[in-house]
Amino acid sequence: MERRTLGQTGLSVSVLGFGGSEIGYQGVSARTVTRLLGSALDAGLNVIDTAECYENSEELIGKAVSSRRRDFHLFTKCGHGRSFGRADWRGAALLKSIERSLRRLRTDAVDLIQLHSCSLEHLQKGEAIAALERARERGMARFIGYSGDGEAARYAIECGRFDTLQTSVSIADQEALELTLPLAVERGMGVIAKRPIANVAWRYQRKPAEPYYQDYWMRLRALDYPFLRVEAGAVATALRFTVGAAGVHTAIVGTTKPDRWSENAALLTAGSLSRAATDEIRTRWRAVADRTWVGQI
Ligand SMILES: NC(=O)c1ccc[n+]([C@@H]2O[C@H](COP(=O)([O-])OP(=O)(O)OC[C@H]3O[C@@H](n4cnc5c(N)ncnc54)[C@H](OP(=O)(O)O)[C@@H]3O)[C@@H](O)[C@H]2O)c1
Repeated sequence: MERRTLGQTGLSVSVLGFGGSEIGYQGVSARTVTRLLGSALDAGLNVIDTAECYENSEELIGKAVSSRRRDFHLFTKCGHGRSFGRADWRGAALLKSIERSLRRLRTDAVDLIQLHSCSLEHLQKGEAIAALERARERGMARFIGYSGDGEAARYAIECGRFDTLQTSVSIADQEALELTLPLAVERGMGVIAKRPIANVAWRYQRKPAEPYYQDYWMRLRALDYPFLRVEAGAVATALRFTVGAAGVHTAIVGTTKPDRWSENAALLTAGSLSRAATDEIRTRWRAVADRTWVGQI
């Protein structure tokens, strides 16, 4: 598994990471998560990303792999201690949320604490960023990051206070490739691609009932990439596009299945997509995407 340096954090990260939202939201058992993460760590995974509000994801991860804490870099988020719909950007609430994350993850410190989709308005107020800086000073986290998209992500880079940016990058979500990634590279920030295979939203014949998948499903229908018409190879092309995007250091694919991480790791042995294949995807996006096709949470 290829490793890249996560910007100025200096952390050496596997290009294929693990995204922890699916195990929480899909109610995956502790036994399955232990198998899933254990086998992935054995095969070269060293990035695990989760959040304070992905149901019991932090607990599942803590239970499964806290005994192997030195084998991976652990990223979590804060801002929605009660649930995703109920944000709280006050400093005290954020520090309390981080303390709870550490207990759930069964660790003294995470490698990265990220502000979870904090709005531009709250970023500009400064209190939330200061709370993360305090957490870092207190040794609760080694580095601090912003997780989100659009103008808020742009501000997070420009303000110069974050070590990393986690943002949506995929064949169905390309705004970041121009709006934020070049600047993040210039500033030496670590970049984590979230939703890197667009939730494989093309797999649904009809519009999915789950709102989280709907935008990507509709975009992919309009984009109508030829490679999505051939089932074999579609995920590989999508993943290799994201991992090959300039500035991306790690792509955190979510999964509920124990064999998935190795399966996806195998897709990456072919390396980045060719220049021509990448250009085709970019050209199609430029031709079809309209101004409403912004980075998705
Ligand atoms: N605001 C934020 O901070 C934010 C927002 C969204 C996401 N995230 C982070 O990004 C991570 C990834 O996002 P995501 O999980 O929404 O999207 P994703 O990684 O693009 O897609 C995950 C989906 O793809 C499927 N999948 C994975 N590999 C596959 C393969 N080889 N073939 C077919 N299906 C495959 C998984 O199903 P199976 O279970 O069948 O493998 C899962 O349903 C999250 O876990 C989270 O850590 C952060």
